[in-house]
Amino acid sequence: MQLHYPDSVDDIDLSNWDFWRKGLEEREGAFALLRKERPVAFFEEGETSVPIQGAGYWVLSRHADVLHASLNAQIFSSAKGITIIDTPPEAREFFGSMIVMDDPRHKRLRSLVSQAFTPRYLRQVENDVQEAARRVINTVIERGECDFVDAIAAPFPIQIICDMLGVPDSQHAFVFEQTNIILGGIDPEYGTEDMVERFTEVLQAGQSLSQLMADMRQQRLQHPTDDLTSALVYAELDGDRLTDQELSSFFVLLVAAGNETTRNAISHGIKLLSDFPDQRALWQSDFDAYAKTAIEKIVRWASPVIYMRRTTTCDTEVGGQPLRQGEKVLLLYASANRDEAIFADPYGFNITRSPNEHLGFGAGAHFCLGVNLARREMAVMFRELFQRLPDLEITGDPERLTHNFIHGIKHLPCRFSPGPII
Ligand code: HEM
Repeated sequence: MQLHYPDSVDDIDLSNWDFWRKGLEEREGAFALLRKERPVAFFEEGETSVPIQGAGYWVLSRHADVLHASLNAQIFSSAKGITIIDTPPEAREFFGSMIVMDDPRHKRLRSLVSQAFTPRYLRQVENDVQEAARRVINTVIERGECDFVDAIAAPFPIQIICDMLGVPDSQHAFVFEQTNIILGGIDPEYGTEDMVERFTEVLQAGQSLSQLMADMRQQRLQHPTDDLTSALVYAELDGDRLTDQELSSFFVLLVAAGNETTRNAISHGIKLLSDFPDQRALWQSDFDAYAKTAIEKIVRWASPVIYMRRTTTCDTEVGGQPLRQGEKVLLLYASANRDEAIFADPYGFNITRSPNEHLGFGAGAHFCLGVNLARREMAVMFRELFQRLPDLEITGDPERLTHNFIHGIKHLPCRFSPGPII
């Protein structure tokens, strides 16, 4: 990648949507300059913080500083919100799950849901993941071409999480639309560009997903099933169970966190493999030998979550910069994952290199709960693609999502030799 650097670090404005509309070369150039010249940078809030503007935020762009904040959750709190905008009280009911909590509340909730979300459980759903991949490829394989995101990367994770939770088939499309609204940024494809109206749409989407889970909970209380929803409804810790509201907001978190991230990791992954054909050939030559490292390399390169926010609970210091209590701090994973101090060739893509200390799944107390599922989904999908669409090629530029939180690809045209439905 040929980076385009801004003339000066003062020209960088992460609070302006125009910054997020620029090409990747400009974005990466700005991050590189921040790492070099202003690794702990302060930004006033601008149009990206409509409708709830605050006093500004610090941005940590170096790996060491992002890791430090991630590992010190008692100082860098998640409770006020994980995006630049504070989580408003009216949104807490739907968006107030563990990701916006600190210990001990966070620990209690994470322990409760972890009982349902274990590697053992995920081994049980291995078949569901495989089945979802087979079905998704079946929908396109006779056509010989498709939009990779719309037809493959997007429907795949939604189908899996909905199947795991026992969401009826008839509701999958609805869940998909609502998560697109929640994580669609200002992109006009996923809702109005008016930020105040968009905010209302996001609240409504959260509310309707919550209602869906409330209904499912009632059904499971009357008739227990063997899905993840039942496991969550009946999970117990010291006689304590998830409340209605805890379950609903966890559902919103799961479907949002579980869809947009994995779908973008897979989309970026296929684009990367097309940009680095030698790496693709290597992986295709022995899938199992490279799957583990290839997947981590894709997540590092793609950084599907651009940042998570924290708020300082006391006066502190990071990277030599004093911070006051109550200040917002952004952990810019997208930049930390390109830090030259950690990664020898940050813009390269080499599926064999190890170790890979990327922060794409976060670190510390809030380290991605769905990491095992995400890795499994990616492995199964790439294996399926290599086996059934081995000559798939990307035929146009990716259309990128305008967003400062999710590193998304909306559309990616591809072509392949048609094959049989199985
Ligand atoms: C490639 C795919 C994924 C990426 C890049 C990703 C990234 C992340 C990151 C960066 C965090 C840390 C949040 C923080 O520190 O504030 C996180 C947390 C979380 N992720 Fe993922 N994620 C992925 C897939 C998934 C999936 C498939 C699920 C579930 C179905 C999931 C569920 C969660 C949950 C519940 C949390 C909150 C954990 C907590 O607060 O303790 N994620 N994820």
